[in-house]
Amino acid sequence: MAQCAGTIKNVGRSAIHLGRRYRHGDMAGLRGALIVLEGADRAGKSTQARLLVEALKERGYRAEGLRFPERTTEIGQLIGSYLEKKSDLEDHTIHLLFSANRWEQVPTMKEKLRSGITLVVDRYAFSGVAFTSCKENFDLHWCKQADVGLPKPDLILFLKVNPEVAAARGGFGNERYETNYFQEKVLKRYFELMEDKSLNWKVIDASEKMENVHKNIKDLSEKAIQDAKDQPLGKLWEEDP
Ligand SMILES: Nc1ncnc2c1ncn2[C@@H]1O[C@H](COP(=O)(O)OP(=O)(O)OP(=O)(O)O)[C@@H](O)[C@H]1O
Ligand SMILES: [Mg+2]
Repeated sequence: MAQCAGTIKNVGRSAIHLGRRYRHGDMAGLRGALIVLEGADRAGKSTQARLLVEALKERGYRAEGLRFPERTTEIGQLIGSYLEKKSDLEDHTIHLLFSANRWEQVPTMKEKLRSGITLVVDRYAFSGVAFTSCKENFDLHWCKQADVGLPKPDLILFLKVNPEVAAARGGFGNERYETNYFQEKVLKRYFELMEDKSLNWKVIDASEKMENVHKNIKDLSEKAIQDAKDQPLGKLWEEDP
């Protein structure tokens, strides 16, 4: 159900004007879904996030894209400078800044989700945790703590590509972490995080053609939107053992 015409009076918290057409999410009480894309560098996350937002909009859903790190904020600028190797930051400090960069978006994210907008997020806490926990002397438990309580994704799409396919998509850039050795460690850590069955992880074969990957992602996302719409938004890792 993408489009629903309606002449509904005073439903839920807001009065709804007669005579207009309502798209999914316009009706009070129906929230949007939080959909996250994760995966190794060059797996196609940004490409697929963009395609998904476009496709959902075409199908009558309200959807917006979001990315982390969000480099435009003050915290985001510190992160950008660190990633571009223009500045150095102590490892715990940069980890907490990445987390803070997510937390500063939470009020906006919650408001949008509440108003029925589905958010498609390019990288989230899983990237933050996977990357820092691969550094020496960091344990996974510590790395997760700063992100405990963030809005819990309704769906996490893990884009999986084999290293040869990733290599064919162009070399690494010059940013921090962009080396084969580090990326392989990160990948292993992602698979550990995927063992958490309280989260709705779906592994996507992202080595396939862009259109095929997109179709898989779109179908799973539409289902997640339907499943999430009348469920409360959860909190990430709150019930962590
Ligand atoms: N399924 C695909 N088949 C072939 N090429 C692809 C596919 N998906 C993406 N690409 C290409 O691979 C490159 C990397 O894609 P993209 O930037 O979306 O990856 P990413 O996961 O966002 O990378 P990063 O982690 O570096 O941000 C781009 O040039 C893109 O056009
Ligand atoms: Mg990207």
